Amino acid sequence: MGLAINAVFDELKIGPHNEDLHMTSPNVLEVDIWRGAEDGRFQRFRVPHRDSQTVLDVVTWVQRNLEPALAYRFACRVGMCGSCAMTVNGRPRWTCRTHVSKVSRDGALTIAPLRNLPKIKDLVADMTGFFEKWQSAGGRFRGTAGRRDPLARVPPDSAPRRAADAGIECINCAVCYAACDVVSWMPEYLGPAALNRAWTLVNDERYGERRELLAAVSAAGGCHTCHTHGSCAEHCPVEINPTLAIAGLKRASLAGFLRGSEP
Ligand code: SF4
Ligand code: SF4
Ligand code: FES
Repeated sequence: MGLAINAVFDELKIGPHNEDLHMTSPNVLEVDIWRGAEDGRFQRFRVPHRDSQTVLDVVTWVQRNLEPALAYRFACRVGMCGSCAMTVNGRPRWTCRTHVSKVSRDGALTIAPLRNLPKIKDLVADMTGFFEKWQSAGGRFRGTAGRRDPLARVPPDSAPRRAADAGIECINCAVCYAACDVVSWMPEYLGPAALNRAWTLVNDERYGERRELLAAVSAAGGCHTCHTHGSCAEHCPVEINPTLAIAGLKRASLAGFLRGSEP
């Protein structure tokens, strides 16, 4: 592997240990990567710039060629698993589908773990609280039918089905959660992803605990905490709009109160 690395740097006319390049070059990226946990700091690396290179490619290159101890997460590399999200030049992004050419500033990249989550090590954030909020929002399917019941027929063009479809492709990446200022100010806020999931269940005709779910999401730290400023929808990589979902939850829970029943 050492020979291969030296060949890359020979080609770029820089030294093998990343210290010999003091001038910027169109072929070299200056990459600052967060190292350590909460009390960490940024460390600079110089990385060959390639066509069609993604931010995840850059992180992987650093880990394979310069810093084997660098910690980060990924699995699918094709935008399906949601595990590769990081903060890139100040914005939360899925790094396997983010091209360097679109986000670098004069050949510079700053890469950090996602905001609003505790840092574990380097680029790895602790997702425990994020997924616990899915549970708090009732985000687990509990159906009404038993195993002997016929399969439910849900018309594909019904309004509830379309509302559920709009949010169902969430990949749990936490990009929206990192983009939400209300989560920063109020850590107990359930956040856009958990509430979006709850809205898909409210609209699922097969779901059996709608009333309990609406009670959970309309309690303190729930849907009524949202300020509707839309940062979650602006950043979601798969174009889900949690702001709309949360507005739906607000309407549904208020309708319950107006009817004089539980939400
Ligand atoms: S619209 Fe609501 S959930 Fe989305 S970023 Fe704003 S406050 Fe957070
Ligand atoms: S709603 Fe979008 S940004 Fe939020 S977790 Fe799901 S896929 Fe990621
Ligand atoms: S690695 Fe799976 S979404 Fe990026």
